[in-house]
Amino acid sequence: MATKDFGAIETDYAFFMSHATEAKSDVQEYARKLADFPDGRTGIHLLDFGCGTGEFSQQLLEELAWPKSALTLTLFEPVDHQQELAASKLSRFSDHAIASLGEASYDRRPTFDLIVSNHVLYYAEDLAQTIDQLLERLAGQGRMLLAMAGYENALIKLWKVGFDLLKQPIPFYVAEDVADCLATHNLHVETSSAGYQIRFPDSEENRWKILRFLFGDYLRQIPRDELLREFDQYVQNDHIVIDTFSQHFDVQFPAQK
Ligand SMILES: C[S@@+](CC[C@H](N)C(=O)[O-])C[C@H]1O[C@@H](n2cnc3c(N)ncnc32)[C@H](O)[C@@H]1O
Repeated sequence: MATKDFGAIETDYAFFMSHATEAKSDVQEYARKLADFPDGRTGIHLLDFGCGTGEFSQQLLEELAWPKSALTLTLFEPVDHQQELAASKLSRFSDHAIASLGEASYDRRPTFDLIVSNHVLYYAEDLAQTIDQLLERLAGQGRMLLAMAGYENALIKLWKVGFDLLKQPIPFYVAEDVADCLATHNLHVETSSAGYQIRFPDSEENRWKILRFLFGDYLRQIPRDELLREFDQYVQNDHIVIDTFSQHFDVQFPAQK
């Protein structure tokens, strides 16, 4: 599938993040799932796969308020300077040095008690392979929490309209693909949804920011006016207001008999 360079659309993604309650709603859903996660564990090794600038995990770790001594953090993010930013933002949540997944040679990489990948797997080159690799790194009693939007999400509907205009399928994965991949493994998977709102002052430039975040390089090829008009259905007074939701996957290995 296609890759997407979040370095090139950094400010557009930041605009989306600051005008959506998505992160807040995802944090609440993860925190609900993880309320009793520490159980008897003395340590938690967490992998944030596709951490971006760490803004999301910062909110999550603030909410979870786990002891700094118990938490070890490993990050993976293809945009190098974003991973550096994430590491400096998240260092205050752990007494241990923050590791990068890329540092250890493959067979010396640790296993993780918790893997979080928040709105990342759309952009996997090969989703089945990525999920296999994440599961290989998940500890026997570990949990993997994933958030993804599916075909009923308003932004994925925008992808559909845009790529239909280009007469090609959506070149990224969606929640339904993740569900299909997980179903090929012997796993215990709980799914839930988390509602959120996107709200911003209506202007062509602001509509365009959301489209740049969504389509990246593809945007140049798509007829501009048709795509901009897609926002008309969401106009409320002088704002765009979109109510939509994400899918959450809570993944564990089945209990051993
Ligand atoms: C929508 S952002 C989410 C960032 C962060 N998890 C959050 O919730 O704010 C998607 C992130 O996935 C990263 N990404 C893109 N392709 C990736 C890949 N193949 N593997 C891991 N991360 C990837 C991007 O660079 C970007 O930081």
